[in-house]
Amino acid sequence: MPVFPSYRFLFFFVIVPLLISITFYRLDTFDPAHHPADSLISSTTSNGPPLINDRFLAGAEFIGVGLLNNPEDIAYHEDSGFIYTGCVDGWVKRVKVAESVNDSVVEDWVNTGGRPLGIAFGLHGEVIVADAYKGLLNISGDGKKTELLTEEADGVRFKLTDAVTVGDNGVLYFTDASYKYSLHQFSFDILEGKPHGRLMSFDLTTKVTRVLLKDLYFANGVSMSPDQTHLVFCETPIRRCSKYYINGGRVELFIQGLPGYPDNIRYDGDGHYWIAMPSGVTTLWKLSMKYPFLRKITAMAAKYGYEPMFMENAGVLQVDLDGNPMAYYHDQALSHITTGVKIGNYLYCGSLLHSHIIRLDLMKYPAVLNKKL
Ligand SMILES: *[C@@H]1O[C@H](CO)[C@@H](O)[C@H](O)[C@H]1NC(C)=O
Ligand SMILES: *[C@@H]1O[C@H](CO)[C@@H](O)[C@H](O)[C@H]1NC(C)=O
Repeated sequence: MPVFPSYRFLFFFVIVPLLISITFYRLDTFDPAHHPADSLISSTTSNGPPLINDRFLAGAEFIGVGLLNNPEDIAYHEDSGFIYTGCVDGWVKRVKVAESVNDSVVEDWVNTGGRPLGIAFGLHGEVIVADAYKGLLNISGDGKKTELLTEEADGVRFKLTDAVTVGDNGVLYFTDASYKYSLHQFSFDILEGKPHGRLMSFDLTTKVTRVLLKDLYFANGVSMSPDQTHLVFCETPIRRCSKYYINGGRVELFIQGLPGYPDNIRYDGDGHYWIAMPSGVTTLWKLSMKYPFLRKITAMAAKYGYEPMFMENAGVLQVDLDGNPMAYYHDQALSHITTGVKIGNYLYCGSLLHSHIIRLDLMKYPAVLNKKL
């Protein structure tokens, strides 16, 4: 009777678990959607931009080690020479970078009581913060007064205020990545694959918050163009940045098929934007983005504590004003890079993982001709 035990084995260890799994899968209400087809195209930069430095970490220097808890965004205040950054403990910190980076001074500036992400400077010396939990904040230049500017639009409250940029006209342009999931659940937004993000403006003279675009896929970084005619904003899961024309509201593609999942985008005052990507495209990510059932399984596992976001090969892509890739600074062993800001000859990077700012000397460790082209 050798068949009988193996049949029982099959029944108890294969069929029963399978039936249980199917039942759990069916009962789970998490319902991921298909992404738009054009977001699944392989990387337009798969052969890479003309210039590459794929060993970012080899030249990286760490600033404020242990003192900056996940410094997500970075803004450089030219007049004072301070770098402002928002940390996971609610602090907006100021950093004075010294000649020898270990002598840099980190100062606790203002605690928002939330989670400061995007940082930009207003026209009157104030610091504008997109706080993931609080909304859009105005902190006076002396750090003494924090004012909530807006936390909802069209009757829908922000759940993940993410990035902000300031126009020369004083209008603030900002994103809410999701009205459904807050920051500590952001991976579910990405796994669900539905567009819960919005691009908005806040006019301080009228105090009106306007929805410029809704139904965006995890609306993330946003940057005003140097000629003040349009914004460039990033949608993380679909690896795309688009232009939004302020006058008339036309939307145009800026760059798609990015080599990673875009977070913040920053203009450098010198003809280029820098797009930070916390993770490069991996096979697992690619499959998950294509097949909603994989995202559902991942989300179910995530509910039981499994960390769903594998991140590797983070970096920063430099593009010109038309969205053409110029140079790509990345590293297989780097992850969670959320912002890239060029200050002088250095690229300063914020991160959702590290306890310091990372910088790279672009003269000493330049991107070189991409041999794959
Ligand atoms: C800076 O500090 C790190 C450790 O925190 C150390 O490894 C490194 O050698 C220091 N660099 C200099 C130039 O002193
Ligand atoms: C921020 O508040 C200051 C006063 O502390 C005010 O002068 C400034 O206009 C405000 N900025 C915005 C964008 O609301």
